[in-house]
Amino acid sequence: MTYCILPALEKSLHRIMKNDNEQILKKCIMSRELETAVKAARKAGAIALRKFGELDLTEIHPKEYKDFVTEVDKACERSIAAAITATFPDDGMLCEEGSVANGCSGRKWIVDPLDGTLNFIHSFPVFSISIALCDARNDLLAGVVYQPVLDELFTAEKGKGAYLNGNPIHVSQRHDPEHFLIATGIPFKEYHYLESYVSMLKDVIHDSAGIRRAGSAAIDLAYTACGRFDAFWEYKLFPWDFSAGVLLVKEAGGIVTSFSGNSDVSAHHSIIAGNPVTHQLILEKAQKHFQEHL
Ligand code: IPD
Ligand code: CA
Ligand code: CA
Repeated sequence: MTYCILPALEKSLHRIMKNDNEQILKKCIMSRELETAVKAARKAGAIALRKFGELDLTEIHPKEYKDFVTEVDKACERSIAAAITATFPDDGMLCEEGSVANGCSGRKWIVDPLDGTLNFIHSFPVFSISIALCDARNDLLAGVVYQPVLDELFTAEKGKGAYLNGNPIHVSQRHDPEHFLIATGIPFKEYHYLESYVSMLKDVIHDSAGIRRAGSAAIDLAYTACGRFDAFWEYKLFPWDFSAGVLLVKEAGGIVTSFSGNSDVSAHHSIIAGNPVTHQLILEKAQKHFQEHL
């Protein structure tokens, strides 16, 4: 099957294979950890791009109700896990598709090998690879979100800022709701908080110029970090969906909390990210509409 998007994908693939890493590595000095994550994300991105639009039905498997995994998710995860283990054998690892390493260093890599699997299955070109590293206290040290179709690489290290393809990024400076473009994730399988979600959505619609549901939480956060989105909110995410993105937003000058306002989002599975104004706006709405779930 041939898709009209293929020439663009070929271009992306070619650039990845040429290894644009070198250019990016020249622009910003990265730790060995970030360099490893970048190389692993790019390699996984190339694996995903090669199969994009070419997935066979036999390569898609149900995981849970309305939750799928493809052979591509698994291949990406194997590749990332192997790269990390080869370089940092003492580190632990938590990967969405089940690869685990306990390690003795206390550090842990948190990996979503393909964020946006449903998009990928439907040949909707919005998906990413997300890799984060945290220390023994769960403090995020490094994060990478890579969007292979656009060959966009978002990177951050604790205390060193956030970058898109090696250039510094910052959360949006917009303060006027009439201009806000806000991203969200729709609850698609846990219906008991659907009513709360819909009433919150209505409320946010009144205080924004538009809403987007891209289908990859890692991209939602990366786009919030670089100011494309003014804010992002979603209820019920997992550490592999958001860890790298959380560091990106924080290092880009943004604020990230749970719906209860707690900065330790990994313990709460709900997330609000934005600049100080948009974060506060969304937080107030979350507390109003999700009160019974917090
Ligand atoms: C999903 C995406 C999506 C979010 C879902 C996640 P997956 O991750 O991040 O945007 O709404 O809750 O599960 O399953 O494609 O890795
Ligand atoms: Ca995910
Ligand atoms: Ca995934």
